[in-house]
Amino acid sequence: MLINPKSVILENSYTKDYEKLYKDSIENPETFWGNIARELLWFKPWNKVLDWQYPYARWFVGGQTNIVYNALDRWLKTDVADKTALIWVSQDGTDEKYTYKQLNEEVCKFANGLKSLGVRKGDKITIYLPRIPEQLIAMLACLKIGAVHSVVYSGFSAEALKNRIEDAQAKVVVCSNAYPYGKKTVESLKNVQQALKDNKTFENVIVVERIKQTLDVGSLKIDKEVGDLKLENQPSSFQPQNPASNFQRQTSKYIWWHELVNKQDTICSTEIMEATDTAFILYTSGTTGKPKGIIHAHGGYQVGIYYTLKTVFDIQPDDIFWSTADAGWITGHSYILYAPLINGITTFVYEGTPDYPDIEIWWKLIEKYKITKFYTAPTAIRALMKFGEEPVKKHNLYSLKILGSVGEPINPEAWLWYFRNVGREQIPIMDTWWQTETGMFMITPVPSVGLKPGSAFKPFFGIEADVVDDKGNKVPLNKQGYLIIKKPWPAMFLDVYNNPERYKETYFEKISNVYFTGDSAKIDEDGYYWIMGRNDDVIKVSGHRLGSAELESAFVSNPKVAEAAVIGKPHEVKGESIKAFVILKHGVVPSEELKKELVLQVRMQIGPIATPDEIEFVEKLPKTRSGKIMRRVLKAQELGQPVGDVSTLED
Ligand code: PRX
Repeated sequence: MLINPKSVILENSYTKDYEKLYKDSIENPETFWGNIARELLWFKPWNKVLDWQYPYARWFVGGQTNIVYNALDRWLKTDVADKTALIWVSQDGTDEKYTYKQLNEEVCKFANGLKSLGVRKGDKITIYLPRIPEQLIAMLACLKIGAVHSVVYSGFSAEALKNRIEDAQAKVVVCSNAYPYGKKTVESLKNVQQALKDNKTFENVIVVERIKQTLDVGSLKIDKEVGDLKLENQPSSFQPQNPASNFQRQTSKYIWWHELVNKQDTICSTEIMEATDTAFILYTSGTTGKPKGIIHAHGGYQVGIYYTLKTVFDIQPDDIFWSTADAGWITGHSYILYAPLINGITTFVYEGTPDYPDIEIWWKLIEKYKITKFYTAPTAIRALMKFGEEPVKKHNLYSLKILGSVGEPINPEAWLWYFRNVGREQIPIMDTWWQTETGMFMITPVPSVGLKPGSAFKPFFGIEADVVDDKGNKVPLNKQGYLIIKKPWPAMFLDVYNNPERYKETYFEKISNVYFTGDSAKIDEDGYYWIMGRNDDVIKVSGHRLGSAELESAFVSNPKVAEAAVIGKPHEVKGESIKAFVILKHGVVPSEELKKELVLQVRMQIGPIATPDEIEFVEKLPKTRSGKIMRRVLKAQELGQPVGDVSTLED
């Protein structure tokens, strides 16, 4: 089925002739990306667009810039300064609006606050904040002064946070005291305290007072739990701490955000960064137990995200762009925060979940705030689909001009529901395939092309992709193979933090000379790509990326568990659900109670997003002769599929 939405944007000038534009872009990618980069501001132009020394690509070498220079500074002397940069709606429905000028002032104040605490270029800052304006302000402030942010999704547990703080050796942690989450209140400061219990390297925790009522209770609790730990209100008196002095450490490390920024200047110069300098680290799950710190740079990243948003969502000056993700994930980094601001449009953030205070909230917000471009995940569409068409149909969604989808394959049924009910069969859906590592959209439609529900269309301009077998040979049309990218792209990650070996092994050594995505795909007779899902041990639960090994180590950290193997199973709403096969230690009696205990254990170690759906106690697990668990065999058995090659199976 080929769908050609009748939308007005078919006249779109950026992408009218996809085939020709694509051909030109890949014939000379350096000229192509160089021309786009010239649309942005640079303190100093680059000497070389691309330095490709396999497997490392460095873009705009010799150029100097800063993402914030393009996201904020460039607008301050233009009409955009008074335009709304951010609309934030809280869970209770009140909103806050920031013009570019106001947002810049908030960013400068926090940047100066960080500086007053001794934060310098290159220092790592962990941001563990919920969906509130401070989350975005903190990110911008870090980049402004050349510090490196590592945003940790607020739904991660204390243990997951601890690992990420330690791996990055963060100097400062930014968090909130507590925050509302539906009917619940999440006391996130507690997680931070627990995560930092044995940490010797952090210097400060900056606490946003998100919930007033909890403040008193919260600070009392802090006093009670950690004895002499106090919320310090004199950041200017900061002095480098002596880690050996426990009392000193505990009395001056916790600072309220509002007290820190209150006395700061609203002007702060933007640090001049090399295009290839690290902008941020973002941890993501892989095939081992330890999440990988994906590193992105200032120069290439800003060019890639700027241009992909502009063309794929046909950005116009009056756009109000809503990506329903959280800035704790790459979608939030690239397309809630940086790309909308670099494009000078309004970005929209809703604090709450899609079902709070009721399941119409998204449609109400689109109507009220006249959202023009809406970007969400298949799992949310499938969840909202369950309530039928009525809740959507009640609302006037005529402001919408383009829809988007990301995070996992979108099944044709959900695609069509989204198209008919949200898109009124008129506006196109951009099914954008990309990853934390790619930083930007890679395989995606542009608004002027014919769409097939469930297909992510073809590679974006400047991107050369293919589907191959394990030797790197192209597979026949409509046959499943490994999705690979053949040439570097500007928002390509720089490395894996502190682990270049893992960078090479995971992405560049499985098939030589190409980037190995870890996804399987097919290409059809029209050249359309159909993404089938992961081909490694990564599980996608509601679009969230979780590693089997990471989940298994959470299970085996329970003293009653001897071994565990975790697989992803197809799930109607979540895309995939988690099933664990668990071998108990000798003498431990299996029970429903124990299953509950293990579920809780995994939630505590990783977070509620990792809640297992099924646990089965088993006596044995299929293993290779070298002792590696064959999850593939378990999965095939579970789904009643052929188990494939089992020649390496021990038993
Ligand atoms: O399996 C693919 C899936 O999400 C993975 C990347 O996850 P993450 O790094 O968390 O980034 C998600 C947001 C960009 C991919 O390897 N994925 C992402 N987008 C799509 C998708 N699968 C199918 N269709 C998509 N549009």
